[in-house]
Amino acid sequence: MKDAAPQPTLLADYRPYPFDVTGVELTFRLSPEATRVVARIGFAPNPARPGRNDLRLDGEKLKLHSAKIDSKPVKPDQDAEGLTVPASQLPDGPFTWDAEVEIDPKGNTALEGLYMSGGIYCTQCEAEGFRKITYYPDRPDVMAPFKVRIESDLPVLLSNGNPTAKGKGWAEWTDPWPKPAYLFALVAGDLVAVSDTFTTMSGKTVDLNIWVREGDEDRCAYAMDSLIRSMKWDEEVYGREYDLDVFNIVAIDDFNMGAMENKGLNIFNSKLVLASPETATDGDFERIEGVIAHEYFHNWTGDRITCRDWFQLCLKEGLTVFRDQQFTSDMRSEPVKRIEDVLTLRARQFREDMGPLAHPVRPESYIEINNFYTATVYEKGAEVIGMLKRLVGDDGYRKALDLYFERHDGEAATIEDWLMVFEDATGRDLTQFKRWYTDAGTPRLTVAEDWSDGSFTLTFTQKTPPTPGQDKKKPRVIPIAVGLLNPNGDEVVPTMILEMTKATQSFRFEELASRPVPSILRGFSAPVVLDRDVPAEERAFLLAHDTDPFNKWESGRALAKDVLVSMIGKDEAPSQSFIDALGRVLTNDSLDPAFRALCLRMPSEDDLAQTLHDAGQVPDPEAIHAGRGALSKAIARSLQKPLVATYDAMATPGEFAPDATSAGKRALRLACLWLLNHIDNGTRAAALFASADNMTESHGALACLIEGGRGTREIGAFYERWKDNRLVIDKWFMVQVLHAAPKDAAPTAERLAEHPDFEWTNPNRFRALLGALGANHAGFHETSGRAYRFYADWLLKLDPLNPQTTARMSTAFETWSRYDVDRKSMIRAELDRIAATEGLSRDTYEMVTRIRA
Ligand code: PHE
Ligand code: ZN
Repeated sequence: MKDAAPQPTLLADYRPYPFDVTGVELTFRLSPEATRVVARIGFAPNPARPGRNDLRLDGEKLKLHSAKIDSKPVKPDQDAEGLTVPASQLPDGPFTWDAEVEIDPKGNTALEGLYMSGGIYCTQCEAEGFRKITYYPDRPDVMAPFKVRIESDLPVLLSNGNPTAKGKGWAEWTDPWPKPAYLFALVAGDLVAVSDTFTTMSGKTVDLNIWVREGDEDRCAYAMDSLIRSMKWDEEVYGREYDLDVFNIVAIDDFNMGAMENKGLNIFNSKLVLASPETATDGDFERIEGVIAHEYFHNWTGDRITCRDWFQLCLKEGLTVFRDQQFTSDMRSEPVKRIEDVLTLRARQFREDMGPLAHPVRPESYIEINNFYTATVYEKGAEVIGMLKRLVGDDGYRKALDLYFERHDGEAATIEDWLMVFEDATGRDLTQFKRWYTDAGTPRLTVAEDWSDGSFTLTFTQKTPPTPGQDKKKPRVIPIAVGLLNPNGDEVVPTMILEMTKATQSFRFEELASRPVPSILRGFSAPVVLDRDVPAEERAFLLAHDTDPFNKWESGRALAKDVLVSMIGKDEAPSQSFIDALGRVLTNDSLDPAFRALCLRMPSEDDLAQTLHDAGQVPDPEAIHAGRGALSKAIARSLQKPLVATYDAMATPGEFAPDATSAGKRALRLACLWLLNHIDNGTRAAALFASADNMTESHGALACLIEGGRGTREIGAFYERWKDNRLVIDKWFMVQVLHAAPKDAAPTAERLAEHPDFEWTNPNRFRALLGALGANHAGFHETSGRAYRFYADWLLKLDPLNPQTTARMSTAFETWSRYDVDRKSMIRAELDRIAATEGLSRDTYEMVTRIRA
């Protein structure tokens, strides 16, 4: 690492920028290795910072050719992070800054700022990429209107806002809406558009374009359809209308993240745009729909109202995730979407919250902001909004949101502003609720039951374990949705919200004819862990009778976990009563196939490792893998008949449709296949692979074959068929490593890393291989430590080129403290080796030092 450890940025140190930016004019003379950026920026003293202030501008890796203030040359003091013009050299009032810099898009491997991807110029400015384009106050609370001129011979030249003029070799764009620099974007390249239009609620026509490389046009229809549905939904549900003449989306192959909401010019990872039945799975279609919506919804929650500083990131991300979840649940199935979201939350956010990287939804300190685009900020940020909505009701939520848009449009806001609109709109005091934003950690909820004389009492106790830097936790407001069933399985008390505010609190239900069975935390009404020892019969009862689909699924899930834990830890035989209960779900045709598919899915190995760790055991990854296989096999043996019948019944012949109903059938079909694959020697998977006309089934079948230690021929055939399609070849890399047997995972990854198609500087390709290794629980933690070493080697190889992706991928190690001494010391040795590497990026340094702490 560098000489001195990098210094953290603190929320407590926030101060407004001393100047307002009144306007920005940029001219780009594009050239792969020497692009010139000419900037003219209007500054005026900010009344919020009286007195005379230096002009400090951020700038990194810029070659400054000239700088002027009010047309007179100046010589600013330059350092590695920017430049300063002393107050003494500035005029009293407003002034104009002119600068010309040179940058190297082709040499930009970090993919932040202006870079090139397959001959296309594109930008990524969130969070702090604009400072690699020109000198600027690169912070979200500095908002300004932008005018952009692009000079290049490339046929398509795009920027934010509306197109205002163009000629041969140049184009001009004007964005009337003041925005922070992180929302700036520019794209130039040989692109073609798939176009449509949308008429807004006030009757304005908006031109919609999805820009892709020639040959990819036939894979844009689903993205376009999703965009149009998103625009309509935001008008109907939030009253939000689009505010420019055009909306452009560009698909880019080399992208660090999923997608980016630049004003009027969203830039997407191509895997979240391009889809056809042959090349994309149902999961891909659903993600495309969700991310197109997410980025579009940012136009209001992110762009029109942005964040004051990066500590407030959840203000735009938590809210926009919440909005895209609502959208998907309206487009598809509400219960299925809720279960999927909780699965992701537990897999990613709970894991984060229970480990060394735990941080509040609104952190108070960071070294590298790129490291805080986390499951906590995004997914827990969305859960917190869901709780707010549950507490104030649908009407209160709508009123608060209307007030939010009215009060803060055009501003850079804070979590305090956000909570204030809820207080003002509903009259509620949210002081205690705010702890969900300031305190890290997942509360654990225990429950005691009491029954006497027709009255039933539930006593809850909440406790949040310590997290880094926060030892003691105060009680939070927890909305607990509860319903009661009588012993016949009829609901006697429909869902109501119990508002818990104390460390321990009782709630009583009176005048009941018989002792009820409680269904607690319906719909997963709060992001907490419910620690409750429930007898297997009661879980099976709820799985059969609960009217709340989430808790119905949750009961089956909990049963499966109990069974697996006793099989893994105590070597017990698989529970027949569990298998029978599962069989009743499988054959219940009144249940949505997608829901049944979720019930058939085993808890993940990583989830089981955490469960065992929580129970005070040291998880053995091999034993977990074997236990999960043994249970699958027992289920398949016992339920063979209904599994085969369902497998056949869930075929979706005819033309492929990506809708939720058809996708649900395929999901159930593949869930049956997964289990049957344990007893049929791969015959069904091989047959499906040979006959499938869509990627969902062909990929699902291939995964089964590999999981069963077969599929060599099919792996080859898949490659031959798809070798010219980058996105499908990503799947090819991933499936082989993800489903490899524990001992084969690292060797397979090592072999594939030598494949000529392993273009590791492409983040999707890197994630396909290394991400799959990290996600193959038993393979990653295989006893020799070979996977750990290989993984760390690759992090070190990528770090100098692309710190952001390297740092993100280092989270594969975040759970190290769960495991046995040998594994722990092997992982620690890798973390130490990474941290000690000369020239390590600030991004990766921060992550590995936090992880090993
Ligand atoms: N703001 C983007 C989103 O969530 C994510 C992103 C962050 C993309 C940083 C690129 C860089 O929609
Ligand atoms: Zn977002």
